[in-house]
Amino acid sequence: MAEKEEKEKDLREEAREIFRKFYERSKDIQKATTETVKEITEKTLKGAQPTKEKLKEITEGIAQGIQEATTRMGGRFEGVLKSLQDLTSKASSSLKEILTGVKEGFEEVTKEERSRECVRFVTERRSITYFDPKKEVTEDLVKEIINLATTAPSGWNLQPWEVVVVMSREKKKRLMEICYNQRKVLDAGANIVIIANTKAHEEHLDRVLDSWIELGYISQRQKKKLMEDILSGWQSPEKRKRKAIRDSALFAMNIMILARMYGLETHPIEGFDEAKLKRFLGISKDRIVPMIISLGYPDQSKKLLPRAYRFSFEEIGQIV
Ligand SMILES: Cc1cc2nc3c(=O)[nH]c(=O)nc-3n(C[C@H](O)[C@H](O)[C@H](O)COP(=O)(O)O)c2cc1C
Repeated sequence: MAEKEEKEKDLREEAREIFRKFYERSKDIQKATTETVKEITEKTLKGAQPTKEKLKEITEGIAQGIQEATTRMGGRFEGVLKSLQDLTSKASSSLKEILTGVKEGFEEVTKEERSRECVRFVTERRSITYFDPKKEVTEDLVKEIINLATTAPSGWNLQPWEVVVVMSREKKKRLMEICYNQRKVLDAGANIVIIANTKAHEEHLDRVLDSWIELGYISQRQKKKLMEDILSGWQSPEKRKRKAIRDSALFAMNIMILARMYGLETHPIEGFDEAKLKRFLGISKDRIVPMIISLGYPDQSKKLLPRAYRFSFEEIGQIV
């Protein structure tokens, strides 16, 4: 009898010890899970998405924890353990579902917010009259914006655009005079002179077609014929001018939108003496300057006039 009591006592103590360990372990698991969920939520709020791997890591971590605890209990109290295990595995799969839901929710919200933001980059653009002359724009930033803007479309991808960026104070002063003393030219951090190259067919076509060959779009054999076709479209001076100006304007619009993504604002300018400008910057006769884009940080103390009237689709459009 005494022996039996002794045995039961041992068993109770052993059980207590096992459950204590299990409890300790479950606290570890809980802590790790909470931290991971917190990390994921923070990252998600910052725009990063929890990866599938991370979710897998959490659920596998939980499952492994349970496995370890079970092993330590040496197979005793199997019924209790089994239900605990079932319960935890259900909890972990619910957690997985919750996290996946959260992830999808964040993804949707982020996507919507991003789309809204993209629309604002376009619709909230204004021609800024007041730039902050004290806030410098770096050369690197200007180059980055221009490099991104070169993704603009162009006929046959000929990219008939060039730029001269006027940044030094001395040169900006002269440019301002050429722009009939428009003050924003001097206050802007940079003025991007957009140049439409009416000789882009001669100067760019070969390189463009070679890149098509490199990409496997066309074969070397097809190049000559295609070249003739494209060049024929560039023969008339009027067409050449139109193509160069049209594509350069698309490139210019890209610059204006991209600049806003870096907190900059712009002002397109057509009010300048083109002959003087070309002499000043050494721009050749076969180039046209459709516009200059002044670019800089806005002077926050100045208020813009409200946006002027815009014609709606009903006034300017038709669907046929
Ligand atoms: C190609 C182009 C040239 C422009 N040239 C001048 C200019 O020389 N001086 C000026 O004050 N505004 C100039 N503007 C700005 C327009 O007046 C302005 O875009 C228009 O009034 C609409 O205002 P918003 O750009 O703020 O929407 C020009 C705009 C474009 C697109």
